[in-house]
Amino acid sequence: MMNLMTGIYPVGTHLASWRHPDSFPKISMQIDTFVELAQIAERGKLDMMFLADGNAVRSMDEPLMFLANPEVNRPTTFDPLMLMAVVAQYTRNIGLFCTAVTTYDEPYLLARRFGSLDHLSNGRACWNVVTGSYAIDALNFGLSKHVDRNERYERAEEFVEVCKGLWDSWDDGAFIEDKETGHFLDPSKLQRLNHEGKHFKVQGPLNVARLPQGYPVLASAGQSEPGRELAARQSDVIFSVALTKEEAQEFYADQKARIVRHGRDPDKVRILPGVTLFIGRTEAEADELLDQLNDLISPDVGVALLSKLVWSDLSGYPIDGPLPDLSAEVMGMQSYRKSIDTLAKKEGLTIRQMYKKVLPGEGHVIFKGDPVQIADQMEEWYRDKAADGFNVGLPVLPKSLNDFVDLVVPELQKRGLFRKEYPGPTLRDTLGLAVPPRGINLNGAWILSDSEKQIV
Ligand SMILES: Cc1cc2nc3c(=O)[nH]c(=O)nc-3n(C[C@H](O)[C@H](O)[C@H](O)COP(=O)(O)O)c2cc1C
Repeated sequence: MMNLMTGIYPVGTHLASWRHPDSFPKISMQIDTFVELAQIAERGKLDMMFLADGNAVRSMDEPLMFLANPEVNRPTTFDPLMLMAVVAQYTRNIGLFCTAVTTYDEPYLLARRFGSLDHLSNGRACWNVVTGSYAIDALNFGLSKHVDRNERYERAEEFVEVCKGLWDSWDDGAFIEDKETGHFLDPSKLQRLNHEGKHFKVQGPLNVARLPQGYPVLASAGQSEPGRELAARQSDVIFSVALTKEEAQEFYADQKARIVRHGRDPDKVRILPGVTLFIGRTEAEADELLDQLNDLISPDVGVALLSKLVWSDLSGYPIDGPLPDLSAEVMGMQSYRKSIDTLAKKEGLTIRQMYKKVLPGEGHVIFKGDPVQIADQMEEWYRDKAADGFNVGLPVLPKSLNDFVDLVVPELQKRGLFRKEYPGPTLRDTLGLAVPPRGINLNGAWILSDSEKQIV
């Protein structure tokens, strides 16, 4: 079965989405819009809702883009974990999937927040482990420049291990709450982490009972070498970025081989490329929607945004000439840069053609057409091992999500590609993942100290 997820950004995935007459009239800090989207997605039995995150307002030095593009710049955005805690109260089954950046956080605090979300949602938390794609974030944390990629990923891996150790603090049934004996908890079900590593020194235990899912589902999106390795070792869900099926297949094969090399079951790790859908009841209606939105992008903004996606300033190049060579690695979002470079070379596109091609998808591939055509494209990628499912981007919200749920999901269900019901209450049930066994801390230092025993 395919896995399907979508973003919970009320703004929609096209640069000009928010200006479309059918989009939410107001999107800044409107909790009702997030709740409405989550409930529509749950009606469609989607696996998860995703919220990206970062720690800075972006593009302030690029006035055109700052003015025009509300979503990418994140000038005003809820803290994802707080938002998901609210959404949890209005939904029952859908997974709550959000980013938290390891470069500027502490494992104890984050393990506690995700542990809380997993309890508050009865087992539906998913953490997108991200090392931070924007250099400017560093300025809010006492640094003058972005941390080097290898070091970010090294810290991320240790961060995740520490979190796992903290989530293992309490065993199931530790809180007996026995009114008769006066014993609130069973100390034999407690272990302390006592972690000392290169980046973190964390004693534990965590002050959150064992999570309904053991650990939240773990996800990541890195496409660089260390990003792929982290994903192969730690992730249950992997985002990918590919503008062609062949590119998606290449990533899929590479990533699944890495998962096997790390002794994990490749079928238990789901690879979900981003895909932006322009759905119409007819093909003409889908074309019209895309044209309508593209007409709302000015060329200046188009070039500026493409520059941002590829991490190179393209404004000095003729707009109707070819893209420069982008094969050199950069510190930023390697994934988009690489796939745009590949596409430019393969199809010989000009800068203008390229921004018209990739901006409507916000860097992801576009599937466009009536529900049958959309389902055909999704099925092809799924059957040809380019994807285990999709991270679906939708341009005009809530309309496009309703269209996806009412028109495309039934078509996928009819073909036996997508389930009709949630199999159980937790996200692990939905994804067919077992609850990981509680790891036992073998350092020997985890049992209560003598003085703590006396207190108990
Ligand atoms: C679908 C998707 C979602 C992402 N979400 C975030 C995010 O919320 N915050 C962030 O800083 N980076 C995000 N990224 C960027 C990745 O974490 C990663 O940095 C990027 O793909 C480049 O890979 P690399 O870090 O291995 O170079 C996302 C990437 C993709 C493809």
